[in-house]
Amino acid sequence: MELKLTEQEYQAILDVKHDLHMHPELSGEEVRTTQKIKECLQVVPGVEILPLPVKTGVLARIKGRGDGPEVMLRADIDALPQTELYESPWKSVNAGVMHACGHDFHTASLLGAAMILSRAAQSGELKGDVDLVFQPAEEGTTGARRMIDAGIFEMIHPDLCFGMHNWPSVPAGQVVLRKGALMSAKRNFTVRIIGHGGHGSMPHLNVDPIVCAAAVIEALQTVISRNMNPLHPAVLSVNMIHGGSPVNLVVDEVELRATVRSLSEEGLTRALERVETIVVKTAEAYECRAEIAWKERIPAVINTEEMYRLAVRAADAISCERADAPPSLASEDFALYRACVPSFFYWIGSRTEGEQIEELHRPNFHTDDRALRTAAALYAASAM
Ligand code: NI
Repeated sequence: MELKLTEQEYQAILDVKHDLHMHPELSGEEVRTTQKIKECLQVVPGVEILPLPVKTGVLARIKGRGDGPEVMLRADIDALPQTELYESPWKSVNAGVMHACGHDFHTASLLGAAMILSRAAQSGELKGDVDLVFQPAEEGTTGARRMIDAGIFEMIHPDLCFGMHNWPSVPAGQVVLRKGALMSAKRNFTVRIIGHGGHGSMPHLNVDPIVCAAAVIEALQTVISRNMNPLHPAVLSVNMIHGGSPVNLVVDEVELRATVRSLSEEGLTRALERVETIVVKTAEAYECRAEIAWKERIPAVINTEEMYRLAVRAADAISCERADAPPSLASEDFALYRACVPSFFYWIGSRTEGEQIEELHRPNFHTDDRALRTAAALYAASAM
């Protein structure tokens, strides 16, 4: 059979995509989205929803003949705390929440793949079982961990795994197939700088954490410029500083939030060592104390040679157009599944040709939904 959506199926997932886009939900709160996914899957013949003990997210299975590898297909489903500016009939109605990363596109694509694969199973063409993973909370990179901890790999035993992200720098429908490191290893962290508050007129009686925080932020800028191999991409950004008082008071503490990323695990390890030393010792030099709270370390998304070959085969099976794009220092918690199952991550072009690029996480971000056809077919072909 031809691995593509029927016109009716395309219209169905387009409607779902628009509905999800209008009703975006934040990480871990995707209750309506989860319900919607289940409703869609329930009417696709041969799809079994598995009882995964999670508040949001869905695990489902399509049975194959049993003579091929079991393949897991993953899509993320959550939205971002942003206000949508892009005008469309399906503009977000949830104030301050927006599908600014296109996870609604991913969800709809995987639902489309379920429809194609259901037909393949019915006609006896689907060899191995297919596991459909609709993952919550990718933003903040905690959802893959939740799914793993909830026991998905006790319920399913995939031999291969495929995921994808829409990519707005690439024209709609084209596919990026890249070997090696695709997206960065990352660790987010929070620093509390603890001084000793008092009156701003009496610096001899207090310890000012704001001045210390300024020194820490400056010193952290040397991690990438002075400690990392300049030929290996890495980045460190302090994205939040919080603390202070009206006019006269020196506060007790200041909080910083930051992220450090590298395309290589060794690079990230080295950067993290330097972060720790710089934060702790700089605080000490300013007679403050620093407490670092590390978030989970997210590995790099790496497409191995072997998985790349399977991805090329899938892309060839649906004759999709290829595009090239450099790796990204964005990260993806899809990388966590790699410890459990060999994985490959695609980028699918989502920009309307001729339009200017609206990057992910921007208030005018939107996808060219004609690319849903390519995305659904590519997911399906990956499982065949
Ligand atoms: Ni995303």
